[in-house]
Amino acid sequence: MTVQLRPLPSPRRPQPTADESNVIVLDTQAPSTVIWPVAGGKGGTGKSTLTANIGLGLSLLGYKVILVDGDLGGADLHLFFNQVSPPRSLSTFLTREVDQLRDVLLPTPNANLRLACGGSELVGMASISHGAKMKLIRHIRSLDADFVLIDLGAGSAYNTLDIFTLAEDGIVVCTPEPQARVDAYGFIKNTVYRKLRRLFRKNEPVIDVIGEFAREAGRRSGRVSDLMCRVGDVDPVAMEEGRQMLTDYQPRLLLNRVRSRRHIDEADRFVTLVREYLSTELEYVGYVRNDDKILDACERCRPVMLTSPKSAAASDVYNVLMNGLGVSDRLHRFESKQHRKLAQVAKAEAKFW
Ligand SMILES: Nc1ncnc2c1ncn2[C@@H]1O[C@H](COP(=O)(O)OP(=O)(O)OP(=O)(O)O)[C@@H](O)[C@H]1O
Ligand SMILES: [Mg+2]
Repeated sequence: MTVQLRPLPSPRRPQPTADESNVIVLDTQAPSTVIWPVAGGKGGTGKSTLTANIGLGLSLLGYKVILVDGDLGGADLHLFFNQVSPPRSLSTFLTREVDQLRDVLLPTPNANLRLACGGSELVGMASISHGAKMKLIRHIRSLDADFVLIDLGAGSAYNTLDIFTLAEDGIVVCTPEPQARVDAYGFIKNTVYRKLRRLFRKNEPVIDVIGEFAREAGRRSGRVSDLMCRVGDVDPVAMEEGRQMLTDYQPRLLLNRVRSRRHIDEADRFVTLVREYLSTELEYVGYVRNDDKILDACERCRPVMLTSPKSAAASDVYNVLMNGLGVSDRLHRFESKQHRKLAQVAKAEAKFW
């Protein structure tokens, strides 16, 4: 298997976000914060598990990390950090008990890692209003950290699509089953159409072309490259803008619960399919094996990196972090690929949890 090496992710500036009513959010993101939304289409692929472990891993590498539970209907990220009933959560913020999202952050035993827990105790949280969503997005962008990871729920609800596309390189977690691949493909397709509609929100002829094409494509799978040609027929400049947007959009694919090499090979085919049909370059960043140690860790309400730092799953997470995602060790204790040493750091860390 080949895993692309990348330098430390340079913070990509997210696009200004606009909604259906053309409200543009000012870019208030802290200058060097990297935002990684984590989604996947299908439920139960391991989005929360991997968000918790990648977040912890980043904090062990010396980065300031904030984990946001953006699964508005089924928040459970707090359970990886032994927070059974969090005293503050997104609902505390969205009901205006506090003014700032940063005021709901909860500490963990690692000073580098903080949590914005979900607020599913609030009825209607899954379908927050447009205004609440924009407020949440604005505040997420202004959080002060090196990395902000956002655990998203299953499906392609507009809230999920808009938070995922806060970054150009969000992480799609997919398991090897065809059902999960179909849902991941559908999710990426929905993000592409959402981004195109947002880009051309003021260009009615192009929006009409997209709408017409999307309806047709639902019946017989149309290629986004064909859509761009149709856009070019009504507006050649828009076609170039659309193509540039597609070039800039580079979500990542993280395979979870892998049980055989065949599953890894299938990732390549999936990447090719997304390139061919959605004109989107999906970057494969690695895999995490199926490992019962993850289930044990869930029962203990801890990330597997702490409960079993030398397990197959933990070692795969180090590999994804340092090779697939190309994160370097800020504290210069070891070079990338020496991820076994990270197991020692995690083992030492576990004593404080
Ligand atoms: N690599 C793995 N090996 C074994 N079990 C795993 C692995 N990854 C996740 N799991 C298990 O799969 C289940 C679902 O994981 P998780 O809750 O992280 O998924 P999710 O994508 O966040 O789900 P949801 O869509 O409901 O938010 C959990 O029981 C978890 O322990
Ligand atoms: Mg989840």
